[in-house]
Amino acid sequence: MKHSSSDFLIRESTSADEKEVAEVFASAFAPVRMIYRPTLETLSHQTKHPWEETRLVAVINEQIVATVQFDLHEEHLHVIGLAVRPEFQRKGIAGHLLNRICDHSASTGRHKVVIETIKETGNVPLFEKLGFQIVNEVIANWCISEIHDQLHFVTMERTVVV
Ligand SMILES: CC(C)(COP(=O)(O)OP(=O)(O)OC[C@H]1O[C@@H](n2cnc3c(N)ncnc32)[C@H](O)[C@@H]1OP(=O)(O)O)[C@@H](O)C(=O)NCCC(=O)NCCS
Repeated sequence: MKHSSSDFLIRESTSADEKEVAEVFASAFAPVRMIYRPTLETLSHQTKHPWEETRLVAVINEQIVATVQFDLHEEHLHVIGLAVRPEFQRKGIAGHLLNRICDHSASTGRHKVVIETIKETGNVPLFEKLGFQIVNEVIANWCISEIHDQLHFVTMERTVVV
């Protein structure tokens, strides 16, 4: 059954959430790791970027069930690391988190929210349902897959009314 936004709380994450957030990531991304993972070389070159980052968490009965981060750029918000615990997926929680980010984008005068995904995860139609459109697609040669010969990195945007 779908959750309404009154069924759970969305709040900014604190340092006390770190362990639970890591568990949400591990459980959400475990099935995805068969489909793609960054090469070791990519991981070793990852640097911390200079943009301001905010992490949100969705909480039900004091348990963190989902998390997402966003960066503030000059003209858009960039969504990263969206993850929902498997047992809480398909209940509308990602949709609520992304709506919250879109509201924040509008309130800060930014009319675009950007999310990137690997096409082979099946997430593209999911984000299309949530109002995002494909704006770019390239071969993701920085990822490897146990089941696909080639992976595609897709950039999607949702326009928000400022
Ligand atoms: C992708 C993910 C965040 C979606 O979270 P979620 O809370 O299950 O998504 P929602 O319930 O808000 O679903 C959004 C829409 O997509 C649909 N949807 C969700 N999962 C789907 C699936 N596996 N297949 C088809 N449609 C799906 C929902 O029905 C909903 O559409 P609706 O509003 O018309 O009902 C979650 O599946 C996840 O954590 N996956 C693993 C990590 C990952 O891939 N993160 C994204 C990296 S970019």
